Amino acid sequence: MMNQDYQGIKKLLAEKIGLGPDKIGQHQLIRAVNIRQQACGVNQLSNYLQRLQSSAYEFQELVEEIVIGETWFFRHRGAFSLLSHYVKTQWLPSASQQTLRILSVPCSTGEEPYSIAMTLLNSPLTSRQFSVEGMDISQEALAIAKKGIYGKNSFRSHDQVDYQHFFEVEENRYQIAPSIRRQVKFSNKNLLSAWPANHPPYHVIFCRHLLIYLDQVSRDRVLKTLDSILWEGGLLFVGAVETNLIKSPNFRFMSNPSAFAYEKLSLPRAKVPLNLRQTRKPLRPSTTKKILSPPLSTSPKQKIQVSSLEMAQKFANQGKLKEATQSCQTYLQRNPVDAEGYVLLGEISQAQDNQEEAQRCFQKALYLRPNYRKALVHLALLLESKGDKQGAAILKNRIQRLNNLQG
Ligand SMILES: C[S@@+](CC[C@H](N)C(=O)[O-])C[C@H]1O[C@@H](n2cnc3c(N)ncnc32)[C@H](O)[C@@H]1O
Repeated sequence: MMNQDYQGIKKLLAEKIGLGPDKIGQHQLIRAVNIRQQACGVNQLSNYLQRLQSSAYEFQELVEEIVIGETWFFRHRGAFSLLSHYVKTQWLPSASQQTLRILSVPCSTGEEPYSIAMTLLNSPLTSRQFSVEGMDISQEALAIAKKGIYGKNSFRSHDQVDYQHFFEVEENRYQIAPSIRRQVKFSNKNLLSAWPANHPPYHVIFCRHLLIYLDQVSRDRVLKTLDSILWEGGLLFVGAVETNLIKSPNFRFMSNPSAFAYEKLSLPRAKVPLNLRQTRKPLRPSTTKKILSPPLSTSPKQKIQVSSLEMAQKFANQGKLKEATQSCQTYLQRNPVDAEGYVLLGEISQAQDNQEEAQRCFQKALYLRPNYRKALVHLALLLESKGDKQGAAILKNRIQRLNNLQG
């Protein structure tokens, strides 16, 4: 049992950086506090706690001793493969006029955001078409990131990756080439702190190996923040051990191997099944997004309606396409004007190689919701794959106009 002052320090760490009290070992905490007590010449633990409470500088110094900045280039290789695939198949066909904005938080000593930049420079994107931001709470880690000089320990991915030409190598010293350094901007950020209102959204966020260290309240807060700064249809990458921590219905797990990624769903603004409209109060903005999670006062009938689309999505993610089709059709029988249901059915039909049915579904979705970006993108790609370049171009123009409207 730790004494009260150590408990006080843990409480402070939980409040300010979200560190779960059970995520830091007793020895690790005592060691870090000892180092800092010696550095500032404070012998009494109770006095040191007071110093921590009153000095932002000292708190940051303790954080530097405590955080674990373990990272390496191309950690979870599948994530970078999916990023590259996303750029080629989704981003470029639909939004190539915009700058692809990517955030890596926490970025630690920089290996992750630099790996992202290398991946994108190996893709059809040019350096002007994307930007990468790396953020971390640790100033020391950021100083290393900005220098961009690494040793062998930063290369632990066993897969062969074509990145050698992005380094200038001198014995065991690997310096990031200027072409990559230019692409990445670093800044200091506590992910628990507020973000400016109207912050431009990121299209892709890497938030890997942080959630696992946070307590439940902080984790929920961080996930809410990430949701608010991520573009609809954008990707969220987490660590392999963190996939069970994302419970929000706003995110759909992507089954790509070793990618550990979620797609943020583009959900309709006001989605109430027609047959329930007369009996329900108007939805408040905060509840309109939660279409897949039943609202508090859900009737049994509504629960069935909600769950069959959720079930369809789950089956589809598991590759159980027959079951997915059935659940989706059941859902659409009850919700015949739901564009999202038609897009999902279209995706499932494509997975079954039934392009005709897929096209019918995407068209139906667009008839119901003409500005539904996901349906537009799917249909544009499908028409293009069929050789209907003119049809695809018309849809791409519509997508572009939507992008311009959203800034
Ligand atoms: C294990 S590293 C993860 C690096 C990289 N994302 C990866 O997966 O390889 C964890 C990083 O989280 C940072 N960190 C801890 N708490 C944070 C917070 N509240 N806000 C921002 N960064 C934080 C630490 O400084 C550390 O560099």
